[in-house]
Amino acid sequence: MTTKRVAVVTGGNKGIGFAIVRALCKQFDGDVYLTARDAGRGQNAVKELEGEGLKPKFHLLDYTDRKSVDTLKEYLVQNYGGIDVFVHNAAIAFKVQDPTPFAKQATMSIATNYTCTVELGNAILPAMKANGRISIVASQGGTMSLSKCSSEVQAFFKSPDITEEQMSKKLQEFVKAAQDGSHQKEGFSNSAYGMSKLGVIVYTRLLAKAAAKLDRANVLVNCCCPGYVSTDMSSYKGTLTPDQGAITPTMLAMIPPSDSAPNGEFLYQKKILKWC
Ligand SMILES: NC(=O)c1ccc[n+]([C@@H]2O[C@H](COP(=O)([O-])OP(=O)(O)OC[C@H]3O[C@@H](n4cnc5c(N)ncnc54)[C@H](OP(=O)(O)O)[C@@H]3O)[C@@H](O)[C@H]2O)c1
Repeated sequence: MTTKRVAVVTGGNKGIGFAIVRALCKQFDGDVYLTARDAGRGQNAVKELEGEGLKPKFHLLDYTDRKSVDTLKEYLVQNYGGIDVFVHNAAIAFKVQDPTPFAKQATMSIATNYTCTVELGNAILPAMKANGRISIVASQGGTMSLSKCSSEVQAFFKSPDITEEQMSKKLQEFVKAAQDGSHQKEGFSNSAYGMSKLGVIVYTRLLAKAAAKLDRANVLVNCCCPGYVSTDMSSYKGTLTPDQGAITPTMLAMIPPSDSAPNGEFLYQKKILKWC
């Protein structure tokens, strides 16, 4: 086992994730793993960064596949004694003009962006080293969705006492209501992506609380919105470059060991956004 520090980025083969890997290769003192669900796409991305004189390593990761998550985690524990930095960037979004029925979009968005993110976070947390940093890429689509929910649903998500179980149940209620189109009547927003990212923002608070109970000091968990970034996801309409979008997620990955804040927060342009 090496005593080197290690940083991992999910969905590193393109877009903001690729730019986060680039930034960490320049700023992080240790090995940086670009992970991707497709080995070819991941290795091509590594080659591209090598062409810039950087030295990322590659590991396969489909974060929606529990076996894939466990394989990566075991590898990191065996070779590095745990994880120093974990940036969870990967997600999906349906395009506005996508003909997939809303019911299916809701099912897939919640399952991929929320449920699998929760499962991933819960799986990696015990492997975080002291002063470890978890940086999750969420979206202001989440807080915008919150503002479109009924006051009752808003109060539910804003509650400081909310549990993971309660939130997962509530988001399943959203999915169920979406099947017959009654989700807005039930107080939810009309954005499947937004509801999934709202879940991620609230989960960040819960994961930060769980991190505080670890027997290792100062493991911090935060999420952020990268801004409107020119990537496949935004059909290249975003106004920021991927490198600009990578700034806040990278900052959260690089919070110095001497700092114990921010923790459990949602940031945009390097600043905490008060959403609850
Ligand atoms: N672009 C924006 O304006 C914007 C705004 C707000 C928030 N965000 C958030 O920023 C993050 C990155 O978005 P982006 O714009 O860079 O999107 P992108 O260009 O579509 O890239 C998404 C990345 O996630 C990967 N991915 C998807 N599902 C995966 C899975 N199951 N396992 C592993 N990797 C998976 C993709 O891999 P494949 O290439 O294999 O599909 C790709 O590498 C997302 O969380 C997104 O919600 C983006």
